[in-house]
Amino acid sequence: MEDRIIYLLKKEQGYLSGEELSKTLGVSRQALWKHIQSLKELGFDIAAVPHLGYRLISIPDRLYDFQVYQGLKTKDFGKRILYFDSLSSTMDMATQLALKEADEGTVVLAETQVKGRGRLGRIWHSPKYKGLYFSIILRPKIALEKASIITLLAAIGICEGIKNYCALDVQIKWPNDLMVRNKKLGGILTEIKAEVDEVNFMVIGVGLNINNDKKSLISQATSLRQEKGEELSRLGVLQNILYRLEVNYSLFRNKGPLAIIDKWRQFSLTLGKRVKIYSHREHIEGEAVDVDSDGGLLIRLDSGLTQKVFAGDVIHCR
Ligand code: BTN
Repeated sequence: MEDRIIYLLKKEQGYLSGEELSKTLGVSRQALWKHIQSLKELGFDIAAVPHLGYRLISIPDRLYDFQVYQGLKTKDFGKRILYFDSLSSTMDMATQLALKEADEGTVVLAETQVKGRGRLGRIWHSPKYKGLYFSIILRPKIALEKASIITLLAAIGICEGIKNYCALDVQIKWPNDLMVRNKKLGGILTEIKAEVDEVNFMVIGVGLNINNDKKSLISQATSLRQEKGEELSRLGVLQNILYRLEVNYSLFRNKGPLAIIDKWRQFSLTLGKRVKIYSHREHIEGEAVDVDSDGGLLIRLDSGLTQKVFAGDVIHCR
C-alpha cells in the first residue's frame, strides 16, 4: 500500500485529495491516514492540508524495497528484495535464504552492516546510508571450476550500471575490485555452495562507496561522490546495477563465457600490467596477459611460461 501511495503522490506532484486517494486505493480515509503516518515514520515528508489533501514534499535517502521496485527494469533480479536497516552481513542473510530455496535474483540489502566482510578475511566498513551493501542469490547451472566467470560478469554489470547512471568510467582490477583512477570504489565477494562439483547456489555480495566524503575514506579508496563532486542517489545507482547484472547474466546464459571475457577485457585494469599475486599457496610475479574461459588470470612468468591463477591478492607493479 505504501508503495502505491508514494507512486500516486509522485505522479500528481501537487496535492491529491484524501477522498480521491482513498477511492483509488480502495481503502477508508482512516486507513489512508494510518498509511500516511507510517510513511512519515519512514522519513517521507508528506504535507496534509485540510480541503487540499496530501502532497509529497521529499523522499528520504533510503533503499526501501518498495522504492527500489519502482522504476526497476529487470525481470528477475530484485523481484524480491529484503531490506534491513542494519544487518551483521548481507552475505549471511542471503545464504540462509538460499538454503531455504529462495529464488534466483533475490536481493538482500542493508543500510549498514555490523560485520561486513571482504575478500581474504578482511573487514568491509559499511557506514550507514553512505554506500550500497547488498547480496544477490544466483543459481547458475555450471561446474564449480567455472564459477569465477560469474564474478567477472558481476563486475562488468556494476561498471556498466554506474556508467549508465552517472557517466563514470569504472575499471576492474582482477578479480573483483572496482577501481576509479587507481583507487578502490568497491568490491565483490563471491561465496559458493556446491555439491560434488556442481554449483548449487552463489551469493554475490557488492559493496560500493557512494556518498562517502573524503575524510571518511582511506587514501587508496574513493567514492562516487568524490569522483562526481556531488551526492548521488544510491537508489538510482542500485537500480541501474541490478539491470546491468541481469543483462550480463543473460548474456552468459545465452552466449557462454567467451562473450563475457570479451567484454571484461574492455573494463580490465589488470591486463597488460606487471603483477604480483599473493595467495595462501604461492607468490607469483609476471605479466597479466589474458583471462581464460573459466575466469582464471593468465600470467606470463619471466621464464616465458604461462601460469593460470584463480584467486589471490593482486598488486599492480606498473
Ligand atoms: C572486497 O573487496 O574484498 C569485497 C567486498 C564486498 C563487500 C560486500 S558489502 C555487501 C556484502 N556483505 C558483506 O559482508 N560483504 C559484501
